[in-house]
Amino acid sequence: MTLRLIAGGKDPAAAAGLLVHGAAEVVTMAGGVRGGTAQGDPAIVGGGAGDAEPVVAAWDGRIVAAGRRADVTRALEGQGLPLARFARVDARGGTVTPGLVDPHTHLLFAGTRERELELRRGGAGYLEILAAGGGILATVAATRAASADDLAAHGRRWLDEMLGHGTTTVEAKSGYGLDVATELRLLEVAHGLGAEGPVEVVPTYLGAHAVAPEFRALRRGATAAYVRNVVEEQLPAVASQGLARFCDVFCEKGVFSAEQSRLILETALGLGMGARLHADELAPSGGAELAAEIGALSADHLAAPSAAGIDALAAAAASGHPVVATLLPATTWFLMSDHYAPARELIDRGVPVALGTDFNPGTSPTASLPLVMTVACLALKLSPAEALAAVTVNAAHSLGLGDEIGSLESGKAADLVVWRVPSADQIPYWPGADLVRTVVKRGRIVLDRD
Ligand code: NIG
Ligand code: FE
Repeated sequence: MTLRLIAGGKDPAAAAGLLVHGAAEVVTMAGGVRGGTAQGDPAIVGGGAGDAEPVVAAWDGRIVAAGRRADVTRALEGQGLPLARFARVDARGGTVTPGLVDPHTHLLFAGTRERELELRRGGAGYLEILAAGGGILATVAATRAASADDLAAHGRRWLDEMLGHGTTTVEAKSGYGLDVATELRLLEVAHGLGAEGPVEVVPTYLGAHAVAPEFRALRRGATAAYVRNVVEEQLPAVASQGLARFCDVFCEKGVFSAEQSRLILETALGLGMGARLHADELAPSGGAELAAEIGALSADHLAAPSAAGIDALAAAAASGHPVVATLLPATTWFLMSDHYAPARELIDRGVPVALGTDFNPGTSPTASLPLVMTVACLALKLSPAEALAAVTVNAAHSLGLGDEIGSLESGKAADLVVWRVPSADQIPYWPGADLVRTVVKRGRIVLDRD
């Protein structure tokens, strides 16, 4: 049975505290953002009985302590927290991890594009389909015609799917409006869904996802004219709405150049947004270099970075201000490409790697981070522990939320998942299976399958 408890519903965790016990292991991911060999250290508290049992205690939505029962009990007593007021969650021999963080999605759109699978099977390229008015532009036409209610219903359905796969925080980009009114509508809906809960939503403005159709008619100078529209009209409107935490750009040869991307992102930074970008997805385009230069929190895709781009990311990591490499291998897979991001080289050079679904109707219609972890292990050659760090602590850091979510450490939000497997290494091992038993968001049980 699936029991989904929504805000205001009957809440078995009405007690202010929650104690998760009975786990075979608790993966804390304590220790901050990680690259290099640390990326493979999940900070596990392994099985044990009695005082050595691994447990997690939360109070008022925050982690009080995670570790051995004896240490956690001492921490609770030290803070005068009465064990009697802790509701119990029995992990029944499963694994406990931080709630998963999906740092790259195009959550809100209308329509579907399964026809493109056929076109790609016939050899058509992704940018070729876009240039012919399909791809992103097909979704833009459908999204402009959709009401806020339609978009919210779609968003709820897919956030629910993400929650069912263990995701408790989701970044959600606009970018299927490409005009002021629709971009603002998408950001408003994304924000509203996050406020509704239980999944937290971080809205990102992606007006520079493609050149809007009405500018394409210009033919010469269309991209430059659209970039001016983004900088002079869309960005100020988005900034005054105040909902977008980040600005993103599709920095790619044939879409927006590194120079155009720099102008857009520097304008956004000046307006108080953070910067992240679609970088070097299909060809080296100067995206990784730009991300490091402007201090973006995240450079995403990176299936084709230049050697100089990798050097720039390694230098940023070494300086203590890392740009997280957010890799999206389900997209490479779904695009039928065998050109995957150089994940091993990035990790070996100290760059923290995150993973996202890139959930969107064209290149990655999956909402499942565990499935992405599987693809990352098989195609990017990540270990299961590296993949788990990539969808928790590193993903949180790429959203600027590293102090708040992504690990089970005292003071952080009590977002956690109980998995129906005895070890975290089994999360990517069963592709397609429903492995989530219980999800806790901010100290409340929001999903319980028993
Ligand atoms: O990250 N590459 C650009 N944006 C998306 C795809 C969007 C779409 O095809 O609708 C991506 O893959
Ligand atoms: Fe994307």
